[in-house]
Amino acid sequence: YPVESIRNFSIIAHVDHGKSTLADRLLEITGTIAKTDRNKQVLDKLQVERERGITVKAQSASLFYNYKGVNYLLNLIDTPGHVDFSYEVSRSLSACQGVLLVVDANEGIQAQTVANFYLAFEAQLAIIPVINKIDLKNADPERVEKQIEKLFDIPVSECIRISAKQGTNIEKVLEKVIEKIPPPQFNTTDPLKALVFDSTFDHYRGVIANIAIFGGEIEKGHKIVSAHTNKRYEVNEVGILTPNEQPTHKLYAGQVGYLIAGMKEVTEAQIGDTLFMYKQPVEPLPGFKSAKPMVFAGMYPVDQTEYNNLKSALERLTLNDSSVTVHRDSSLALGAGWRLGFLGLLHMEVFNQRLEQEYNTSVILTAPTVPYKAVLSSAKLIKEYRNSEITIINPAQFPDKHSVSEYLEPTVLGTIVTPQEYIGKIIVLCQDRRAIQKEMLYIDEHRVMLKYLFPLNEIVVDFYDALKSLSSGYASDKAYATGKFLCERLKDTIPRQLFEIAIQAAIGKKIIARETLKAYRKNVVAKCYGGDITRRMKLLKRQAEGKRLMRKIGNVEVPRDAFIRVLKRQ
Ligand code: GTP
Repeated sequence: YPVESIRNFSIIAHVDHGKSTLADRLLEITGTIAKTDRNKQVLDKLQVERERGITVKAQSASLFYNYKGVNYLLNLIDTPGHVDFSYEVSRSLSACQGVLLVVDANEGIQAQTVANFYLAFEAQLAIIPVINKIDLKNADPERVEKQIEKLFDIPVSECIRISAKQGTNIEKVLEKVIEKIPPPQFNTTDPLKALVFDSTFDHYRGVIANIAIFGGEIEKGHKIVSAHTNKRYEVNEVGILTPNEQPTHKLYAGQVGYLIAGMKEVTEAQIGDTLFMYKQPVEPLPGFKSAKPMVFAGMYPVDQTEYNNLKSALERLTLNDSSVTVHRDSSLALGAGWRLGFLGLLHMEVFNQRLEQEYNTSVILTAPTVPYKAVLSSAKLIKEYRNSEITIINPAQFPDKHSVSEYLEPTVLGTIVTPQEYIGKIIVLCQDRRAIQKEMLYIDEHRVMLKYLFPLNEIVVDFYDALKSLSSGYASDKAYATGKFLCERLKDTIPRQLFEIAIQAAIGKKIIARETLKAYRKNVVAKCYGGDITRRMKLLKRQAEGKRLMRKIGNVEVPRDAFIRVLKRQ
């Protein structure tokens, strides 16, 4: 395929607007996968993606399509829609020249549509708006097209109306991809320049790097060098993703594919790295802005003997998801562990689930916190930290308030798109979360886009749920209400013990709420009469199984997901 017949594109959208379903149809219509009823979100390969029905990792696929007698190679990169994963979106976009911006014909433009549009716009990519779900009863494509024109300045005539579910107008999408998205402007005769835009670890084959070739060619046997580590490798295999790995003779400028080159250490394939030919160094491509973690939590093995296993699982998974930061940490109650930084709460939950499902580990995750900064006033502390401002990612390390002149907290600019009848309630909710309004714009007669500056801590755990339910009945003194809530939730979450437990919430030394967990009266085996030994063994086994999931903190057994459950105010 000459470079002129290659198109590299991504599908971007708000969550659930139908990216993965559209990707399925594109794979089918180009014959990449057989057409059956079973093709549901084929690119969502991970178990967590299938269970949650969301895309977490961007996945690539090469499609072949004949248009007006010319054979085209179309490289499609499916991207996640949830805000926590926008890091993946911008990473994928660097390998593309254009995007399909999918918008639900019923819901219209949503917050993440706006954010993703700007990512593509700033990267100067061709943007093709696709109005999806026109088969829905309440679909109003005309309204959505007007929103697109108003907010993004793209003429109504540029929009394609489709139903990804029913397969309506999918050919039109492919035609537009070929006509509107420019081919990559790279030269096969230049020296090799390959961008590592993703990488995964395969238990059998080592590191598999997803690469986009910005210049030259690469094939088996070539000696290449990583600009990041300066290490030399011999290429074992190159190929394209259809969507599974399919080896090819070579990869050349403009193509997107994968590479296996004997990288054994998980740290060797840095995302954002540039690969070049041995003895032909090139100017490395600009790497990626490193993702900034915004939610921190402690992670500990349930059983300390599992520490090393968990360590290697963490190393492997962070290679696949480099947006997670890892620092060693330890706690009196939980032993040796780590403090991990995530992009958001969903990101944290998904990472935890992947650790358990893909690496068969069992971990304790502590309550999520956001990073704070403290401006120090104590000369002693300034000397100790060699800085007058420190970042605190661990609540246990909060300096005493008498040595601090000011605390700073992270804020985020949030976009909310809502039907106008909810505006009043949403404004109350935002004010309750200490947010400052920045913008209010009618995107059509009935819908409003609000922009607010939020303290991150106020929205990180449950804002989205609160927004959905629009329940604004919080007590005016939040500390007492929160303390009471946490104590009650802990009381429900911690199983009764053989002794009474006092659960207290405190600010400094002041107790603001208290609940009592009554002692557990009956022994599990007490209810079996006499000598039914099998029933007795079964119950004891069940009890032992239950205990495996817990961890003793002091004398109290706390279920390991209690930390996260108590923080969800549902
Ligand atoms: P994430 O991967 O979570 O970001 O979502 P996504 O944008 O990939 O959406 P997905 O393709 O998973 O579709 C979300 C839901 O919308 C699924 O239940 C689909 O069956 C449904 N859906 C997708 N396209 C259409 C369509 O054209 N019509 C109708 N009626 N439903 C659709």
